[in-house]
Amino acid sequence: MKSDTTSKAELYAHLAAQLRSLLEGETDFIANAANFAALLFHSLPDLNWAGLYLLRDDELVLGPFQGQPACVRIALGKGVCGTAAEQRQTILVDNVHDFPGHIACDSASNSEIVVPLIKQERLLGVLDLDSPLLARFDNDDARGLNELAEIFVEASDRL
Ligand code: SME
Repeated sequence: MKSDTTSKAELYAHLAAQLRSLLEGETDFIANAANFAALLFHSLPDLNWAGLYLLRDDELVLGPFQGQPACVRIALGKGVCGTAAEQRQTILVDNVHDFPGHIACDSASNSEIVVPLIKQERLLGVLDLDSPLLARFDNDDARGLNELAEIFVEASDRL
């Protein structure tokens, strides 16, 4: 529906401006990742988890996040995060219980979106958002979150 799309586009445009302002003058990867996760968690409705997994020695390791404590290490190709990292593609999952190999960190999660974080063709990790609602995320979220991820990686020094 057009009005939904318009308001979501406006929300992400507003978030992009907020993120640029939050990261201005700061390049520390962890500090910026922490503010990125906090901004998303407190600005997007119906989330129970928002955070990053960072690529370390060919596996994903838990980074800054907001929400319940989560599993620390995820192998490439495993779960939604490891699959998005391996394929270097955004993955939208309407119902995590239908995703083969989904890693359940918080039993409240029902849908999920994972966006790979790529800087100059190097995979840095993934951005992961979980929702207690089914099918919480759509292509507008994918587009908006990819733009925000781009702002974050460009502003932040590589780990
Ligand atoms: N569900 C994710 C694991 C991370 S938690 O959701 C925070 C997955 O399957 O990769």
